[in-house]
Amino acid sequence: MRAVEIRTFGAPEGLAVIDLPAPVPAAGEVLIDVEAIGVGGVDTVIRSGALAGFGFREGHIPGNEVAGTVTSVGDGVDPALTGRRVWAFTGESGGYVERTAASAEKIVPLPENLSTADAVAIGTSGMVAHFALAHAHFAPGESVLVRGAAGSIGIMTVQLAAAGGASAVAVTTSSAERGGRLRALGATHVLDRSGNGDGPAEYDVVIDVVAGADLPFFFDKLAPNGRMVTVGVVAGMPPVDFGAKVMASFRKSLSFAAFSADSVPEADRRTVVAAQFSAAARGELRAVVHELLPLEKAVLAHRKMDDGEVVGRIVLTP
Ligand SMILES: NC(=O)c1ccc[n+]([C@@H]2O[C@H](COP(=O)([O-])OP(=O)(O)OC[C@H]3O[C@@H](n4cnc5c(N)ncnc54)[C@H](OP(=O)(O)O)[C@@H]3O)[C@@H](O)[C@H]2O)c1
Repeated sequence: MRAVEIRTFGAPEGLAVIDLPAPVPAAGEVLIDVEAIGVGGVDTVIRSGALAGFGFREGHIPGNEVAGTVTSVGDGVDPALTGRRVWAFTGESGGYVERTAASAEKIVPLPENLSTADAVAIGTSGMVAHFALAHAHFAPGESVLVRGAAGSIGIMTVQLAAAGGASAVAVTTSSAERGGRLRALGATHVLDRSGNGDGPAEYDVVIDVVAGADLPFFFDKLAPNGRMVTVGVVAGMPPVDFGAKVMASFRKSLSFAAFSADSVPEADRRTVVAAQFSAAARGELRAVVHELLPLEKAVLAHRKMDDGEVVGRIVLTP
């Protein structure tokens, strides 16, 4: 079967199509004929080589979520799953493939009217957005700033904050056109990447996928008792003295936290993803698919990600 690996760290051209033996489901696994692969920010970060110090090696197959049809099951798995359309969380690797053997613990059946492409646009991103807001103890009536809102996680965070009764949902984004699209998803205020724009002076919650040099500036936008949760570092690490900044806010009792979906028990992740798929099937949550591209065009998909062209998810189709 065809797969895509990171042959060399660095530019998108380091991705290469390879041939692998088709997997056989072990006990507790299902074999999925993959129809849709979500291309995430984490895939491009791993491909760049930035996480080489965290155990990622050349030869890695990227991709953390797929959706498709179960074609067979291993021992101990309900045979009735055969033929079901499912979404699967593959961890930080292994998604860019034609077929995958996934743990039955990591799959979520799709509602009839949810496409596989929409499933991978919502799956991991919606789950991360849900738990990031929970980590921030977001409550109805509070104001929320979503930094880096045009990405797949930001798009889901905007929708969940709006549906959760936020008093205001401000977003940072790089263009008025993107701002308009985010307003249609529930944003009430649009700021540029530097935070300029017509929004509340302070926020109860900041959800940040960007980090980088400007993180302290956005931390300063927290209201007393405000909480900032960072889930990604698309602009790199914050300044080394950021900890001192947090301490200097002592009298406002502000909180800063990092959040990773890795810290959430598998069963809780599945419960949230299933609920969001149902919400999407009812039309209460929107999947934003930027573009469908064949698996062989993974290089193009990563180039578009690197060039900042993507709003929502690029979906690869084997
Ligand atoms: N915590 C977790 O469990 C978890 C799980 C999966 C992924 N992640 C991480 O989450 C991050 C976000 O992923 P994603 O797919 O939602 O995002 P993404 O599409 O990679 O980027 C989000 C948005 O950030 C803005 N942006 C990009 N570079 C920027 C810069 N230098 N300064 C300010 N804004 C910038 C862009 O929007 P504009 O051009 O409109 O500004 C972009 O659309 C990634 O780092 C990924 O590794 C975390």
